[in-house]
Amino acid sequence: MSLKKDFLWGGAVAANQCEGAYLEDGKGMSLVDILPGGKLRKEALIDNPKKALKTKYDFYPSHESIDFYHTYKEDIALFAEMGFKVFRMSISWPRIFPNGDETTPNEKGLEFYDKVFDELKKYNIEPLVTINHFDTPLGLVKDYGGWKNRKLIDFYVNYAKVILERYKGKVKYWLTFNEINMLLHIPFFGGGILIEEGENELEVKFQSAHHQLVASSLATKIAHEVDTNNMVGCMLAAGDVYYNTCNPKDVWKSIEKNREQYFFIDVQSRGYYPSYTERLFEENNINLKFEDGDKEILKNHTVDFISFSYYSSRLTSADPEELKKLEAGNAFASLKNPYLEASEWGWQIDPIGLRVTMNTMYDRYQKPLFIVENGLGAVDVLENETVNDDYRIAYMKEHLKEMIEAVKDGVELLGYTSWGCIDLVSAGTGEMKKRYGFIYVDRDNEGKGTNKRYKKKSFEWYKNVIATNGEEL
Ligand code: BG6
Repeated sequence: MSLKKDFLWGGAVAANQCEGAYLEDGKGMSLVDILPGGKLRKEALIDNPKKALKTKYDFYPSHESIDFYHTYKEDIALFAEMGFKVFRMSISWPRIFPNGDETTPNEKGLEFYDKVFDELKKYNIEPLVTINHFDTPLGLVKDYGGWKNRKLIDFYVNYAKVILERYKGKVKYWLTFNEINMLLHIPFFGGGILIEEGENELEVKFQSAHHQLVASSLATKIAHEVDTNNMVGCMLAAGDVYYNTCNPKDVWKSIEKNREQYFFIDVQSRGYYPSYTERLFEENNINLKFEDGDKEILKNHTVDFISFSYYSSRLTSADPEELKKLEAGNAFASLKNPYLEASEWGWQIDPIGLRVTMNTMYDRYQKPLFIVENGLGAVDVLENETVNDDYRIAYMKEHLKEMIEAVKDGVELLGYTSWGCIDLVSAGTGEMKKRYGFIYVDRDNEGKGTNKRYKKKSFEWYKNVIATNGEEL
């Protein structure tokens, strides 16, 4: 058994990490546009975003990024050369609604995406569009407090309606929120949320999550009304959580940790809050405000498919002594798995974990899956106008092997888009140095460089993977 003939091979990017042109043609600021790169990024993004709102930094990587806003034609031509069938991208919310609360969209912003979709069409590349990828308009953070505020549902739904109607017939595959579970781990990134002193942090996070879940269902409803061909997916930062030992306490802990992520998809795919949330909310003093009709909205407008990013599995323990060793490789803290190696940024590499995760999800939801992010962030050295990135090829080869194993296990899979198919600004660190692409972009952490594109060794390798539909890895 092999992959279906119409398997969607491609690559993925996000507006805030590649477009640049941060104030061009009427675009407003997004919350990412106030974040610095490098060492200061973590404090601004995770530890103290309130401070970031008031601080003036020397350099903001998102402002120019790799300038995809102006280079999209040349970049899409390179994707086409690799044989992409699909290109995952996001629409920048503040490009369409600069402050977020306007009622009339910014026409210039809409025109830009028309041009991008037309360019993709030229090469028969199907767009896969994330409606909101970490770039809530800054105005909605400052004036409304982000997704804490129920009003955000209306602003988001208005935005979603505008783009769903505008791009009817041009875009079929939609994702409502990127890595929706990130809200629990990096609330500022996921929802422009600032936790105030005295607030019940978990309650704020779950209330905000509820708002996003309702908004996601409403966008799904509109997408289906606008065009019955539309396929709408949710998007999870996935990676199963393993238990450290066979001590039943550890096993139970891993179930709790897994529920922390699957909670979101349980709601988006099944249409109701899972029964385990009753106890979770009671024990954490979480009283969620539901409005009349919320339950019906969630129930009636579930997603058509389940998409996810996969970079790593995680490891947990019930033993407090063990937990002292937790390491924050990416947004998710994990124990070190002695069977795994890690990337230069400490992300543990676990190809079999991809098969495990895919099987877990398919068993749980029985809906088609779509891998919309996977890849290796590494330091690349440009030599003789190319990069010998054998390490990236090796990483992807192992992951694709396991992906195919999962399909053989019976998992239905729509496609695979590798993350950062062209080098772009890292979301977590704001660096350019953490590169994922098949295409090298000559730009460094300080924004210096020619911005010229070069094909890495992996470019030809991936081209052949696509040409042989995964038969030759
Ligand atoms: C995912 C995000 O979390 O991981 C992307 O959806 C991000 O936006 C990717 O870029 C890789 O993370 P990082 O921090 O290496 O850019």
